[in-house]
Amino acid sequence: MSTMNTQSAPLIEVQDVSKSFGSVVALKDISMKVNAGEVMCLLGDNGAGKSTLIKILSGVHRPSDGHYMVEGKEARFSSPRDALSAGIATVFQDLAMIPLMGISRNFFLGSEPTKGWGPFSRFDKKFADRVTREELARIGIQIRDTGQAVGTLSGGERQSVAIARAVYFGAKVLILDEPTAALGVKEAGIVLRYIAQARARGLGVIFITHNPHHAYPIGDHFTLLNRGRSLGTFAKSEISREELTSMMAGGEELETLSHELAEFARTDAIAGASLAEVAREFEVEAESLEEAASDHQATVDRVPTDGQ
Ligand SMILES: Nc1ncnc2c1ncn2[C@@H]1O[C@H](COP(=O)(O)OP(=O)(O)OP(=O)(O)O)[C@@H](O)[C@H]1O
Ligand SMILES: [Mg+2]
Repeated sequence: MSTMNTQSAPLIEVQDVSKSFGSVVALKDISMKVNAGEVMCLLGDNGAGKSTLIKILSGVHRPSDGHYMVEGKEARFSSPRDALSAGIATVFQDLAMIPLMGISRNFFLGSEPTKGWGPFSRFDKKFADRVTREELARIGIQIRDTGQAVGTLSGGERQSVAIARAVYFGAKVLILDEPTAALGVKEAGIVLRYIAQARARGLGVIFITHNPHHAYPIGDHFTLLNRGRSLGTFAKSEISREELTSMMAGGEELETLSHELAEFARTDAIAGASLAEVAREFEVEAESLEEAASDHQATVDRVPTDGQ
């Protein structure tokens, strides 16, 4: 094995990165890194700065201050394309897929393989279908029809296609912005499994989520953001799921929340009481209805039937 320094440099590292939009400070002095074969979870509430940070990593924004290094070298990306060619693939929440087009067309979107030359060159469907099928099989998805419209896949399957695509095109770092946010428990589990597989193949993964229950089982390190600042980075051995959850909620916010919940319970109790009243009124009505019904029955009973 080589003893070169770059061998041990993290795939991605930011040091004291800040980002302002006019007077809005979206990020202040954030440091984090991700190594090959590691899942780094970026956690934080709405507006914490998660998307802003990954937009810096993926070349959408330049940091206002601080350093951004890729494999030990200062990165100067001026577009997502620059980041992608450095091996940093980002799967944004809207996924940049075309719902009406098939799986293999979407898999190769923007990098279409062709056959033939000049005016006769056309999409090499056979190649695209084969690679798509193979790459998805590699992560455990068997597809029957590579022409199936992506729009008819489940949310989890769509995420999986996007992940498989990034891996196939040689990503070293995979950045996933809330890939499990819109998914049910089972589908989220499937996406978490693909994240584990990407890690096993030696990629560094940055997994953004609101949900500590999704992050904890899969993460090696956790960075928590709160209103643009870091609450710290923890290795899994340094933090329990409960601690992670309570840090996410934040002591202060939790207190506000419990006040709100108490208030809700109070108004709910009022609502409950008035409901009970309605129910009681209904009961009265039901009673009189019942009475009316039995009166009616009695009348019917008194009427002699023909032939008896
Ligand atoms: N282009 C921009 N111009 C001005 N303010 C911005 C811009 N982008 C982000 N912000 C602000 O920066 C802060 C952080 O936003 P960001 O989108 O990074 O949060 P987030 O953690 O991704 O939140 P969410 O969980 O809701 O996606 C917010 O206050 C937001 O309004
Ligand atoms: Mg966001």
